[in-house]
Amino acid sequence: MKKILIIYYTQSGQLKEIIDRVSSGFDQDEITVDLHEMKPVNSYPFPWNKDTFFDAFPESVQGIPCEIHRLNIDPSINYDLVILAYQVWYLSPSIPFWSFLISDQAREILQDKPIITILGVRNMWIMAQERIRKKISEYGGNHVGNIVLQDKHQNLISVVTIVHWLYTADKGRFGIFPPAGVSDKDINESEKFGRIIAKYMMEDDYLNMQKELVEAGAVKIIPDLMSIEKKAIHIFMAWSKFILKKGNAGDPARKGRLNMFRIYLFTVIYLVSPIVSILFYLTWIFAFPKIRKDIDYFKLMRKKRK
Ligand SMILES: Cc1cc2nc3c(=O)[nH]c(=O)nc-3n(C[C@H](O)[C@H](O)[C@H](O)COP(=O)(O)O)c2cc1C
Repeated sequence: MKKILIIYYTQSGQLKEIIDRVSSGFDQDEITVDLHEMKPVNSYPFPWNKDTFFDAFPESVQGIPCEIHRLNIDPSINYDLVILAYQVWYLSPSIPFWSFLISDQAREILQDKPIITILGVRNMWIMAQERIRKKISEYGGNHVGNIVLQDKHQNLISVVTIVHWLYTADKGRFGIFPPAGVSDKDINESEKFGRIIAKYMMEDDYLNMQKELVEAGAVKIIPDLMSIEKKAIHIFMAWSKFILKKGNAGDPARKGRLNMFRIYLFTVIYLVSPIVSILFYLTWIFAFPKIRKDIDYFKLMRKKRK
């Protein structure tokens, strides 16, 4: 009997639905699953409001942890595989999940283990994943697979729908807009990823697993968003430092700067990013070899970028 440990965090329940669906692809006669939800001591609000949502920005980007409850995981169980399921906040791992990942408990759990990451996001996740990847390798874990479920609607539409969802907790259609987040269809179909994982797990050889997962649609890279994200994270770093100079999480003194960032963010998303995307595709041909390499790197989890 093989044993899988799944550690996740979710606010709306979307990520839990995803991992339940992936797990339904495991044969229960051959694989047991232990599920652990990690929880911050002071929960983040859901639904969010304008103030709480933007107040999470500086700490997300700078990786400043919150206090979390220790997971009740039996250290005597030798798991064959660990699955980490997380979401992205501001191009960075969500604060609760990151807080777990940098804990001593995470180091103990992940050391020498095969690890698969599962993400439930809007559509910008590659820079967050870089950080997770680095941590796993620092702990001596073996990152063997990655599955990303994302909102497949056009970028500007998904910004509108996610804000509505996160501010109201209503994921459904509103007005002319489609439902927010990862579609029910994509969640339902993610059982196929579980079947692929199980197959490689039984053979104890994950060498070709990511390739097969990608062929089954586990990771989709949107080239212009990848390029925007790689630049935006540097700008987010600068903004978050600027805001943190006024105080830590919840400090009213930083409200003015958070408001400035909010206006900046929506201006960039709606006015600047469409122009950047058009320019990206106009110059696509010149940068093609580099873009191709980056896409392969993020999809197939190649070891080194050349
Ligand atoms: C504060 C905040 C910031 C977010 N930033 C991003 C982001 O940068 N990129 C992205 O793809 N999704 C982003 N999302 C969406 C989340 O990754 C996730 O899909 C959504 O919050 C649902 O996750 P849940 O399972 O915790 O409910 C953000 C969500 C929140 C709450």
